[in-house]
Amino acid sequence: MPTHKLLLLAGDGIGPEVMAEVKRLVAWMNAHGMGTFEYDEGLVGGSAYDAHGKAIDEATMAKAQACDAVIFGAVGGPKWDKVPYDVRPEAGLLRLRKDLGLFANIRPAICYPALADASSLKRDVVDGLDIVIIRELTGGVYFGEPKTITDLGNGQKRAVDTQVYDTYEIERISRVAFELARKRNNKVTSMEKRNVMKTGVLWNEVVQQVHAREFKDVTLEHQLADAGGMQLVRWPKQFDVIVTDNLFGDMLSDVAAMLTGSLGMLPSASLGEMDAKTRTRKAMYEPVHGSAPDIAGNGVANPIAMIASFAMALRYSFDRGKEADLIEKAIAAALDKGLRTADIKSEGCKLVGTREMGDAVIAEMERLTA
Ligand code: IPM
Ligand code: MG
Repeated sequence: MPTHKLLLLAGDGIGPEVMAEVKRLVAWMNAHGMGTFEYDEGLVGGSAYDAHGKAIDEATMAKAQACDAVIFGAVGGPKWDKVPYDVRPEAGLLRLRKDLGLFANIRPAICYPALADASSLKRDVVDGLDIVIIRELTGGVYFGEPKTITDLGNGQKRAVDTQVYDTYEIERISRVAFELARKRNNKVTSMEKRNVMKTGVLWNEVVQQVHAREFKDVTLEHQLADAGGMQLVRWPKQFDVIVTDNLFGDMLSDVAAMLTGSLGMLPSASLGEMDAKTRTRKAMYEPVHGSAPDIAGNGVANPIAMIASFAMALRYSFDRGKEADLIEKAIAAALDKGLRTADIKSEGCKLVGTREMGDAVIAEMERLTA
């Protein structure tokens, strides 16, 4: 069995607390013959800034380039509100995405039946929901140049961000969406603002061309991103795979997260191009939730998104779909037993902390494999 090399970057806030549950899961899997996982650890975000004045250092970047998969916690917090823009905690995350070429961000939004009542929407709108948002992750306004604030000298300043997309970037992200749809319900909805933005016009055109050339068997729909946001809360089950740009994907995936009951439930995978020779790709796995500084250190954070992100690593980086299924089933079983962290608590359920939820998932894995 090959040894899988992980780099764990826990980050700030609740990052280390939820990452601790991944470590315990990894130890359990190693002990139960479910793979040989080795891990190294590093600093990212505010904790890296505190240690060496940068949001991520070169040594950690080199480790990220060399490992089989990065498992990422969360970065940021009010403690670093005043640090210079270039070294703010988020810069570490953005550098990882950009330098590793992780252009495809896969954000599944699955509503576990046990959690349908934790959503702010009515049960029948979200119960059994299973959709995926494919967010372009290395282009658009996040990275476009110029990106400046200029003093105009008359008491005014001017801020510029640049939204830019090339054909190849839209082609490769739409391929990811179409290929994934073929393994699911065969439908892709592309979201942009072609009524206002040139990047939206090109996005729409290129997605249609890729569809006509390579994926005629997949149903393709287009929605303007604002209308798409509205449809996501009106009737989310109309979607299968949504493909959209970096900024719209950031916003729409937070909306999708709340459909599932809590931001604490959503995992994600960020993937690079497949290397034709080695059949491997760079990858990073992270929960969609942030560092939640308000609850950090209290042991109450929900570790499910972090654990489910590790399950995505098993599926996408290590070809271990069986073990990924097992983790997901164990999560569902723990929820079915009525265990809830504070973010998903509901009447009649048992309130548990981070560690207990991690314990429960491992206990269910024990039971499912007994
Ligand atoms: C996300 C986050 C990040 C983003 C932040 C932390 C930079 O919101 O992964 O959705 O905006 O991409
Ligand atoms: Mg976000």
